[in-house]
Amino acid sequence: MDLPLYCFLIIYFKSVFVCAGVFGDEVKSVSVMEGDSVTLHIDIIDLKSAHLILWRFGPQESLIARINREANAVSIYNDVLDGRFRDRLQVNNQTGDLTITNITTQHTGLYQKNISGRQKSSHRFDVTVYARLPVPFISSYCPQNSSSSSNCLLLCSVLNVRDVSLSWYKGNSLLSIISVSDLNIRLSLPLEVEYQDTNTYRCVLNNTITNQTQHLNITQLCQPCSDCVSCCDTTEVVIRLVISALVTVALVAVLAYDVRSSKDELKKRPKTARYKVCSTKYSERKTKPAKLSR
Ligand SMILES: *[C@@H]1O[C@H](CO)[C@@H](O)[C@H](O)[C@H]1NC(C)=O
Ligand SMILES: *[C@@H]1O[C@H](CO)[C@@H](O)[C@H](O)[C@H]1NC(C)=O
Ligand SMILES: *[C@@H]1O[C@H](CO)[C@@H](O)[C@H](O)[C@H]1NC(C)=O
Ligand SMILES: *[C@@H]1O[C@H](CO)[C@@H](O)[C@H](O)[C@H]1NC(C)=O
Ligand SMILES: *[C@@H]1O[C@H](CO)[C@@H](O)[C@H](O)[C@H]1NC(C)=O
Ligand SMILES: *[C@@H]1O[C@H](CO)[C@@H](O)[C@H](O)[C@H]1NC(C)=O
Ligand SMILES: *[C@@H]1O[C@H](CO)[C@@H](O)[C@H](O)[C@H]1NC(C)=O
Repeated sequence: MDLPLYCFLIIYFKSVFVCAGVFGDEVKSVSVMEGDSVTLHIDIIDLKSAHLILWRFGPQESLIARINREANAVSIYNDVLDGRFRDRLQVNNQTGDLTITNITTQHTGLYQKNISGRQKSSHRFDVTVYARLPVPFISSYCPQNSSSSSNCLLLCSVLNVRDVSLSWYKGNSLLSIISVSDLNIRLSLPLEVEYQDTNTYRCVLNNTITNQTQHLNITQLCQPCSDCVSCCDTTEVVIRLVISALVTVALVAVLAYDVRSSKDELKKRPKTARYKVCSTKYSERKTKPAKLSR
């Protein structure tokens, strides 16, 4: 490959270093998913004269690989940085390309490739490793405040994430989105739908390179909150509890009196348990985690 004319002139009149600067100033950004492999490759240079290639990593510019093309020797420094790169590095002895296998977020950082030969050059790669995303989960809840009782209230949530967006889609249109950059123990985004709604809704978690989707099944998740709503006034709850207690006592009396009718009455008893729902602000319904949709 011929050097560009301006570079040649700089070499001729000034110094090699400036020319290296011309090649090396740009930083190539590389995004990679945790667990994947990445090869740091640059294809603009003539390697024929390159006799030594060095790879360095991080703020301390720790030497991680050395390719001596003249001696036909490749060295990989497995022990640097507490063995962070152990068994994860491969180099191509022809091109000097560095491959990092099974990458983790610990391998995020700046990689430098210095090539010595007739001309020196250096190349930098800014590698960002993204953690795999969990599938968000959707739950419904009954509010203490009953004003929205005609609608089904939903929360899409995800645990322990950073640098993500969480959004609700109706069909293909975005309804709401929340983006965070720091670590979030629990990130949630609400949605309100009518019980009869037949649109398709999905909750999407994404970072810059990947996403995970959970589809909403209204029939499965949404049941009217009316049982709860009718009893959210405290005095009314007490009155109802007293009445239900009386009913239970009466029931026991009836049971003792007529054994044959007891089966039918027992079936009705669980209804009294519904008052417990109102004692907490939100009562998330127990839902089985839906299948991963990938
Ligand atoms: C490159 O490595 C391969 C084996 O990995 C070896 O067969 C070959 O001779 C090497 N070539 C050079 C130029 O080092
Ligand atoms: C990838 O690295 C993780 C630890 O960072 C390890 O648990 C896992 O076994 C590795 N997978 C492979 C295929 O080497
Ligand atoms: C490697 O290249 C960088 C520029 O990216 C330069 O600052 C550094 O001095 C070079 N190191 C060697 C050993 O040539
Ligand atoms: C219910 O919420 C509405 C606003 O959403 C508020 O105006 C009203 O006072 C609340 N009622 C109760 C009982 O908290
Ligand atoms: C999620 O995707 C949207 C567009 O699809 C994008 O604007 C947003 O930046 C992404 N979120 C993150 C955290 O990268
Ligand atoms: C999620 O990623 C897929 C590719 O993996 C892409 O086709 C789709 O548009 C993305 N969805 C969103 C909402 O960003
Ligand atoms: C929604 O859930 C119901 C009940 O669990 C099920 O019968 C139905 O097939 C589900 N619909 C979809 C689209 O998954």
